[in-house]
Amino acid sequence: MPGAGGAKAGNDAPVRVFLAEERIRRKVRDLGRQIARDYAGKEVVLVGVLKGCCIFMSDLARAIDLPVTFDFLRVSSYGNGTESVGTVRIDFDVTQPLRGKHVILVEDIIDTGLTARAVMNTLRSKRPASLRLCALLHKPDRAQVPIRIDYLGFTIPNHFVVGYGLDYAGKYRNLPSVGILQRTS
Ligand code: IMP
Ligand code: MG
Repeated sequence: MPGAGGAKAGNDAPVRVFLAEERIRRKVRDLGRQIARDYAGKEVVLVGVLKGCCIFMSDLARAIDLPVTFDFLRVSSYGNGTESVGTVRIDFDVTQPLRGKHVILVEDIIDTGLTARAVMNTLRSKRPASLRLCALLHKPDRAQVPIRIDYLGFTIPNHFVVGYGLDYAGKYRNLPSVGILQRTS
């Protein structure tokens, strides 16, 4: 069924809507307000983990009424499937010094927690003034390492989800909602 439950990605996405656009919008606005309150009078560096962060981070940034700058890094932890390969490699790193800055790492989803742990350690080694983690989604059932998520959108059950930046084999990032990928066979 094309665009099941209102999900549209121009690719007959076999996706069942799990978090509707409006629910995400409200949550992102609340996260932005909370961050603006917590960092009042300061400047914040949002560091996104590519590529999954792109949609969430661009909406989040616009919900933060403070001076904000962007940086990105890219890691490999997953292949083209739905399972972690267990190791995390930094493919490319941030391009500005983070020493003395207030840094918020922005992740699409915390699954096993391995990626976030590795990236937080890398960022901590750059001696920021403060470092926090913001994630749209968290799957606590899958946790392999304890991770403190300072700003969290939604806790979700153990489904593989796509949309709003999250992909399966590179696709579905442009779905405006978060949905559960259906088996097509
Ligand atoms: P972790 O290291 O296992 O926490 O995995 C984090 C990364 O795995 C995320 O940044 C996503 O790119 C990917 N990932 C984990 N779960 C999902 C999912 O349900 N849908 C899409 N990508 C996921
Ligand atoms: Mg991914």
